Amino acid sequence: MPSIVELDTRSPIWSRFFTVAPLIVVGTLEVDGAVDLAPKHMAMPLGWQNYFCFVCSPRHATQRNAQARGQFTVSFPRPDQLVQSSLLASGRAPDGSKPAVAALPTMPARVVEGALVRDAYLWLECVLERVVDGFGENSLIVGEIVAASVDERALRASDADDADLTSAMPLLAYVSPRRFAEISETFSFPFPADFRL
Ligand SMILES: Cc1cc2nc3c(=O)[nH]c(=O)nc-3n(C[C@H](O)[C@H](O)[C@H](O)COP(=O)(O)O)c2cc1C
Repeated sequence: MPSIVELDTRSPIWSRFFTVAPLIVVGTLEVDGAVDLAPKHMAMPLGWQNYFCFVCSPRHATQRNAQARGQFTVSFPRPDQLVQSSLLASGRAPDGSKPAVAALPTMPARVVEGALVRDAYLWLECVLERVVDGFGENSLIVGEIVAASVDERALRASDADDADLTSAMPLLAYVSPRRFAEISETFSFPFPADFRL
């Protein structure tokens, strides 16, 4: 039996161990119409219908933009876009622009007003559903997905092997804190025989 360490919950516990998260890029439009892109890892589908959520902060332009415009996009970058995705968290120039955004090729969203990261493998376009404030200094941003597209090479097909798909198109994971992983080897999950969602 390993010894168990109790953590002090009077301060944040999340730097004391590793957890796995996706790494996504949220796209919004600034007041002047400029594209803003920011990496997020606290992000996931919200339920079984087409809702997606991420954790943000009113201190971030992303949250202010999403609330002002009522829309945001989500791009799922590929492992070879890791550095460019990370640089989207770098500082702004004195004029308020974020030079790292210009370095990442984008393409227009189809349905909402906004931009998507070119060469990502999955793209969501969301209408803001609600913002839940008050998790310390953080907020939960929830969007309804009104358009979605996927690189054909990452699209699951009934006649193809899922393991081959992730091997050919590896996934990017943020291993919090401060690490990442490229996931290329995946396995069929051992569900109980009578398991139903
Ligand atoms: C790998 C990584 C993951 C991040 N995950 C989150 C996150 O889940 N939620 C969040 O609010 N900020 C997260 N951030 C920080 C913001 O994205 C970052 O501060 C960004 O520059 C905010 O830009 P904005 O002011 O244009 O919105 C993350 C940053 C990095 C580098």
